[in-house]
Amino acid sequence: MNENILVLEGVNKHFPVNSFRMHGKVVHAMDDVSFSLRRGEVLAIVGESGSGKTTTANVMARIYKQTSGRVTFEGREISKNMSREDELRYHKKVQMIFQDPFGALNPTRTVGRIMERPFVIHKIAGRRKAVEESIDKILIQVGLEPPEQFTRKFPHELSGGQRQRVNIARAFAVEPELILADEPTSMLDVSNRMSIMNMMLYLKESHSVSFIYITHDLSGARYMSDRIIVMYAGMIMEIGPAEKIINNSFHPYTRLLKSAAPSPEMGLKRKRLITGGDIPSLIDPPGGCRFHPRCPFVSDICSLEVPAMKKIDEGHYVRCIL
Ligand SMILES: Nc1ncnc2c1ncn2[C@@H]1O[C@H](COP(=O)(O)OP(=O)(O)O)[C@@H](O)[C@H]1O
Ligand code: SF4
Ligand SMILES: [Mg+2]
Repeated sequence: MNENILVLEGVNKHFPVNSFRMHGKVVHAMDDVSFSLRRGEVLAIVGESGSGKTTTANVMARIYKQTSGRVTFEGREISKNMSREDELRYHKKVQMIFQDPFGALNPTRTVGRIMERPFVIHKIAGRRKAVEESIDKILIQVGLEPPEQFTRKFPHELSGGQRQRVNIARAFAVEPELILADEPTSMLDVSNRMSIMNMMLYLKESHSVSFIYITHDLSGARYMSDRIIVMYAGMIMEIGPAEKIINNSFHPYTRLLKSAAPSPEMGLKRKRLITGGDIPSLIDPPGGCRFHPRCPFVSDICSLEVPAMKKIDEGHYVRCIL
């Protein structure tokens, strides 16, 4: 469990602003993002909407190229230009599960055709019979049984939960090394959420993959992950073992997220974030600590420079001057 499969070092992703008035300005979607993922581990990335989670997933998936910094996968830098073959190999090894289960499926193809595509693209298991057997097996694993009943259907004939099961089956079908799941249950109703989370944990173990689980929900992160990264306004605020982030969080933003997390006493209903404000503009992010406009512990020095990540315990780091 100690070998790193994926490493990000000082990664920045800035998007140019498409506006005449703001010519030359950029959106700081990721700034100085550094972390590593151990093989076999589940690492959660948590933060409110707009904190840079999807951008981070897209950089890891090579959908976006980072503005600067290094991304290394299995010891090789992937930020450099890759050959067509290496690119294809990377996309087989690193599979993504998207937030919107409907948008991710081609509406004109049956589930059978959708499931065959990755086998064709990645030239896996040449014989038709073998491909069909692999598809049936994974459909059964995601709970779409009997598989022949589902392979004939089109996405619009499935429920939201069933569609997300197809997406998950497709991601696992090509035996990847790493799954990037970007809020995979946030568009599903509560009744589906738990069973899909459990199913992903089961598949993660049985297929021996490493897993990045992105969510805005701290309690979901706790349930799914070994370690948690807390992101705010494009930067990592706290990173550590899940248990420490939940029971011993240090950063004022993590504590704010915790206070907003659903609790059993509340009937697991989501509370609104009780805060004095929203995520700041990432075009002109606040100077110094990005959280300072909302922080209850803010002092004069907090706006002067960006706090460095400080080690406070084994594997537990915090970006705060306190
Ligand atoms: N393709 C893009 N072009 C311009 N800005 C973008 C793009 N994608 C994301 N952003 C901006 O980057 C910031 C982070 O977005 P995102 O990574 O989607 O956050 P999250 O997934 O945490 O909600 C937001 O301000 C968002 O508007
Ligand atoms: S550095 Fe200052 S503003 Fe930022 S979280 Fe810590 S106390 Fe709050
Ligand atoms: Mg997102």
